[in-house]
Amino acid sequence: MRILTGEEDFDGLTETVATLPGAAYWDDGWYRRELNQIFYSGWLYLCHASSLIEPRAFRSFTIGTQGIFLVRDEDGTLRGFHNSCRHRGSILCQEAQGKLKTRSIRCPYHQWAYGLDGRLLATTSLAEAPDFNKADYPLHPVAVREWRGCVFVCLADTPPKLEDSFDRGSDRIDNWPLESLKVGHTWRKKMQCNWKVFWENFNECLHCPNIHPELCDLVPIYKRRISGPRDDPDWSQHKSDPDARYRGGLRPGAESWSCDGTALPDGFKTLTQAEKDRGQVYFISLPSVFIAGHRDYMRTVRVLPTGPEETEIEVEWLFLPETLERPDFRLENITDFAIMVMDQDAKASELNQKGSRSLRYDHGVLMPEEQYVKSFHDWVRATLS
Ligand code: FES
Ligand SMILES: [Fe+2]
Repeated sequence: MRILTGEEDFDGLTETVATLPGAAYWDDGWYRRELNQIFYSGWLYLCHASSLIEPRAFRSFTIGTQGIFLVRDEDGTLRGFHNSCRHRGSILCQEAQGKLKTRSIRCPYHQWAYGLDGRLLATTSLAEAPDFNKADYPLHPVAVREWRGCVFVCLADTPPKLEDSFDRGSDRIDNWPLESLKVGHTWRKKMQCNWKVFWENFNECLHCPNIHPELCDLVPIYKRRISGPRDDPDWSQHKSDPDARYRGGLRPGAESWSCDGTALPDGFKTLTQAEKDRGQVYFISLPSVFIAGHRDYMRTVRVLPTGPEETEIEVEWLFLPETLERPDFRLENITDFAIMVMDQDAKASELNQKGSRSLRYDHGVLMPEEQYVKSFHDWVRATLS
């Protein structure tokens, strides 16, 4: 076994690093702290704006213990509110998504009515007390930002800068036409694991060969349990090797992430040849989303906790509008591939979660290929401190 010395430009870890403690994955106190300091303080991706484009379209979401909803006004403004009535706190919006029939939001309990801007329009009492003023009871707003067709919200009173939530190690997606795309398919899954288990698994490929045989066939470098050429301690010896096992990228003949490896006829014309050839890029905004870019479509994967040991992921496949209109468009050739990979990851993550409950698991240890897991742990620790 070779001892790593931190050879120049090698990306991996060269010393042994402890993971977060086992309790971080199931303890209520940890979870509450993470909700308050991570999920209720920073910006969170919720959905692509094309799923909420029509006037009076709405969607509701659960973030930890918090219900919120978004609604598009008739003038195109998108607003977000806490899903809680100012009368006695009932949920207002019960459906996951839809289109309001009128220009008001009515509470299902005692029928208070609010405008799409959150103002209280009417109560249902026979008389209101002289000191009751409707202006004192608007819906509690949530900060909303639309960035390149992506809807982000922040539950903090004073939101930080949205761009500060974009991971500095992300790939650049400036040339991908994110804002012009449309959602072609959405898939949701509840995973029985802590939200951090999802991100740790996303951040390493040490698990790839046995968990994802089909993906390793498409992206040969993953067979070597690494995700990029510099994760190999001997990378400099292979730097001019054109073999995809060393340089990265897709297997010879494959064009994109799909069941048969083919790309859609309408590829993204704005990409450089190098970007087309990469096979996949990842843009990350912790703690809520990664956006994968391929030469012909994009995919968002949103991550929200619904309990200390339960996480919901929602995946959107984004395509050019003309692609969705093609009569020969084979959606499943694309979606089935990623669903298979994500199901494989979910199964592994659930095994990981169960084992971390062991009385003897006080913490684990990171290996050289897990440098991005370390970066993620550093971010969690820094955000909680
Ligand atoms: S709780 Fe909404 S109207 Fe009473
Ligand atoms: Fe995986």
